Amino acid sequence: MNRRAFAIGALSALSARRAIGANDRIRMGLIGSGGRGREDWSTFLKQPDMEPVAVADVYDPFREKGIALTEGRARGYKDFRQLLDQKDIDAVIVATPDHWHALISIAACDAGKDVYCEKPLSLTVVEGRRMVEAARKHAKIVQTGSQQRSGSHYAQAVKLIQDGGIGEVHRIHAGMQRNIAPGLKPTEMASGLSPALDWDMWLGPAPMRPFDPFRCIYNFRWFWDYSGGQMTNWGAHHLDIARWITGAEAPTEVSGFGGRYALTDGGETPDVQQVTYQFPKVVVMWTSSEVAQGKPLTLDIYGTKGTLTLLRSGFQVAPEMLGAGKDKTPAMEALQVKGNDLNAAHARNFLDCVKSRQRPNADVEEGHRSAVMCHLGNISTRLGRSLRWDAAEEQVIGDAEANRMLARPCRSPWRLA
Ligand SMILES: NC(=O)c1ccc[n+]([C@@H]2O[C@H](COP(=O)([O-])OP(=O)(O)OC[C@H]3O[C@@H](n4cnc5c(N)ncnc54)[C@H](O)[C@@H]3O)[C@@H](O)[C@H]2O)c1
Repeated sequence: MNRRAFAIGALSALSARRAIGANDRIRMGLIGSGGRGREDWSTFLKQPDMEPVAVADVYDPFREKGIALTEGRARGYKDFRQLLDQKDIDAVIVATPDHWHALISIAACDAGKDVYCEKPLSLTVVEGRRMVEAARKHAKIVQTGSQQRSGSHYAQAVKLIQDGGIGEVHRIHAGMQRNIAPGLKPTEMASGLSPALDWDMWLGPAPMRPFDPFRCIYNFRWFWDYSGGQMTNWGAHHLDIARWITGAEAPTEVSGFGGRYALTDGGETPDVQQVTYQFPKVVVMWTSSEVAQGKPLTLDIYGTKGTLTLLRSGFQVAPEMLGAGKDKTPAMEALQVKGNDLNAAHARNFLDCVKSRQRPNADVEEGHRSAVMCHLGNISTRLGRSLRWDAAEEQVIGDAEANRMLARPCRSPWRLA
């Protein structure tokens, strides 16, 4: 297909939305039918008011798997622009690698579709801001795929903390830890490029490179051209909750350390990373370690009356013990709360918002701000210095080199609208 540049003006004419009634079915497309895309698709397919219409993926076997989930009800496209041209689609899921999230989501808004875009929302700070602008310009619902935001126990924990239930919160620690030494392996096309994949279209706005199966399916996460490593992969989940708890838009200062020290699989992003964020009266810390067997890291919120540990499965509070010796008494009651199905709740929230036109639980602005936190952590780590952040201007204060890293050039003909 002729590669049109991203002058999406032609699609704007389609942006008039059909009015969707409470009892109507929402007609959906899936763009990016890989591991997560198919999970999202399956979750949405269980909703009674969702109608699958089309699946777009540049890799034929994955597109076919996405279509199979609909029992043949959806059409297939290799080029997502053809899916966006389909007027009978109300909303799309964008579950491509991160380097495509912004261009596809913006094009979808321009084409009049609501969007459920996987986390991390963006590859760069500037991309995320443009996504927010596109959503607002076209009055589109854009939900970030941060499913914790729709977890009732997450909302309960955040309310408890914000109401002072665990006392004054002064520190939040988030992280992920596992042992994948000596590293990961390609998951598809290990013996070479297959005609089933349009590699040029997989790369899209990223720099041209010869095909490398390790850069492609799933493992794109470990390359700066397409993602930001565990900082954006898991950080986008846990730091989103940490930021939600603080109630702040952004940290004022960021300091990151780390690198790819232990793994030998050819990836680029850190396998060990430590980032510290200064928020008003709260220090937020991020730890990730890819070669570290042991206790999994949790999201821990430290208050003067207790420490709350928040997991996808639920949360618990361990009270502070006050006093001395035998007279020690707990500062609050211990608590244990179970979680619900986050994915189903998040999909439901999106569909409800498509109908009501209310802002969704993980609105694009929230997804953007949390992705910014992750991007700043990576920029600080890569530059080897602390950054001071002006959230209103979305600029690093007094650091031109860091500011240049807030955006990336797109490979022609792609461009950020
Ligand atoms: N919310 C969560 O818990 C969660 C979990 C896993 C992954 N994710 C996110 O989902 C996204 C995808 O991750 P994954 O693990 O599924 O990766 P993946 O490599 O398995 O899937 C990505 C798919 O996108 C396709 N693709 C690439 N370029 C495309 C294009 N231009 N048009 C259409 N399709 C294209 C690929 O061929 C592939 O099938 C990432 O952003 C990741 O962070 C979110």
